[in-house]
Amino acid sequence: MQVLVIYGSRLGSTQAIAERIATRLREDRLEVAVQAASGAAASADADAFVIGSGVYGGHWVKEAAEYVRRNRAVLVHRPVWLFSSGPVGDLATRHTPVEPKEVAALRAMVNPREHRIFFGALDRSMVDGSALGFAERLIAKTMVSEGDYRDWKAIESWAAGIARELARVPARRA
Ligand SMILES: Cc1cc2nc3c(=O)[nH]c(=O)nc-3n(C[C@H](O)[C@H](O)[C@H](O)COP(=O)(O)O)c2cc1C
Repeated sequence: MQVLVIYGSRLGSTQAIAERIATRLREDRLEVAVQAASGAAASADADAFVIGSGVYGGHWVKEAAEYVRRNRAVLVHRPVWLFSSGPVGDLATRHTPVEPKEVAALRAMVNPREHRIFFGALDRSMVDGSALGFAERLIAKTMVSEGDYRDWKAIESWAAGIARELARVPARRA
């Protein structure tokens, strides 16, 4: 059983979540590859997909949403899990997380088993030299709380649940 974990990440925190999910899946002896959505090649060989994105201005990173759209014909026939890594600061601790704007459309497109929102992280030292545009850099430096709000236990237990579900799915080429 091959699992592809795809991430859209501007400042690295979603990439680390994707890698942690992969590590947890491998503990259940799944074969797992982790790839950035921007460089990810055609995906027809994978048996299952976990696809996640950081959230910016209420949206998924463009490349991650594009990955789902581009590969929808394959994804719709595979087990797929989506995750967003978003709220930090007060948005994480005091408010109910809001689903990123494209998730409803992505859900309709590929019928994922689940979409889960995890708290994110912001390390301001990553902002300069990043792929963020001018306005986003300003927002990152002045309006978004710095800190690591990622809940690794929640992330690992979600990944463990995926491994359990995949244990019940027959491998396509077994
Ligand atoms: C410019 C900027 C805008 C953001 N907008 C949102 C948002 O609209 N909703 C949200 O939940 N998180 C928002 N965040 C928090 C990020 O989603 C969080 O830092 C995430 O972990 C970033 O992922 P990445 O490090 O993989 O790029 C924003 C962060 C920045 C820097």
